[in-house]
Amino acid sequence: MLARIQELGVTLAPRLIEIRRHIHSHPELSGQEHQTAAYVAGVLAFCGIRATEGVGKTGVIGELKGSSNESRWLAIRTDMDALPIQERTNLEFASKNQGVMHACGHDIHTTVGLGTAMILSQLEEKLSGHVRFLFQPAEEIAQGARWMIADGVMKDVEAILGLHVFPTIPGGSVGIRHGALTAAADDLELIVMGESGHGARPHEAIDAIWIASQIITTLQQAISRTQNPLRPVVLTIGQISGGRASNVIADRVKLSGTVRSLHPETHEKLPAWIEQIVASVCQTYGAKYELNYKRGVPGVQNDPKLTQLLEAAALEALGRSQVQILPEPSLGAEDFSMYLEHAPGTMFRLGVGLKDQPNYPLHHPQFEVDESAIITGVVTLAYATWQYWKQN
Ligand code: NI
Repeated sequence: MLARIQELGVTLAPRLIEIRRHIHSHPELSGQEHQTAAYVAGVLAFCGIRATEGVGKTGVIGELKGSSNESRWLAIRTDMDALPIQERTNLEFASKNQGVMHACGHDIHTTVGLGTAMILSQLEEKLSGHVRFLFQPAEEIAQGARWMIADGVMKDVEAILGLHVFPTIPGGSVGIRHGALTAAADDLELIVMGESGHGARPHEAIDAIWIASQIITTLQQAISRTQNPLRPVVLTIGQISGGRASNVIADRVKLSGTVRSLHPETHEKLPAWIEQIVASVCQTYGAKYELNYKRGVPGVQNDPKLTQLLEAAALEALGRSQVQILPEPSLGAEDFSMYLEHAPGTMFRLGVGLKDQPNYPLHHPQFEVDESAIITGVVTLAYATWQYWKQN
């Protein structure tokens, strides 16, 4: 079966590169993926796969039925949105939409999803289970997965696979990560309220600026002294404002920041832990506060069994030298984690690094990829899906 999948991959390669270039030159922002969605649905329908548009607002699902009578689904998730960046590559298929660019490789992801659907739909021997392809919108604003799930895409899904391109891994290779892949990312907004007064008479006022600085210092020290160092937490206060004049004690300071963590248990406890520190510092010095802690997306925790299966499939399909085992997670965020609240899953990194050319990072206006990665991604996902339904 692997040989058949690889053969189909080679045959489909020119068509997939064409598809990728079309998507690349017509990028659309998060939540506005109307043309991309219509294009994706068109390609799916052409391959005889039932496609539904308007799922998760501007998302699309494609459903490929296997031979089973049971409603058991494996999902493959790819994302379709682009970024508000003006492309500065010299590619002949560069973005035609002013100020919008596929600088995070979601054009590759979408193409890999389509290619995997094409291959799996052409196998003579049917899969035993069903495969649902999720073409998700709005990943960059961490909303699309929520929208898709609200529209029922995880119904009867028992496992989910996903991928993201990675420029520091060479094209032709993949990166497999056991355990945590990305961090949970939350936001906080804090208002510290004191009492105004004369700058020369601090004892008659409650200095919100000084208390805010105590809160920041205490939080940073508390991370180092009370959080398990093997379960990292990063707190960054990125904005602070308050005060009216140099000789007036400020009665109000606003702070906002981002909180990243890797361990689910730590993530769970962070809001209460932060509030306790804020409350105790404020209480000590007589200030009041308003804390608005906004849960963002959880971290991606790759499922051990599925990651094992994916690794084995990649090793067999690509060879040992093309499969890297990633030693570290990233503190970036990815809303693939939202699906993992409904079914176990695993996400891998698809190498797109170019040989003998500078490799710009994701979200860079000169970001380019090695297009051969499309076939690497397609063969890996198609074979892993085949193996999943053979084993389960
Ligand atoms: Ni991305």
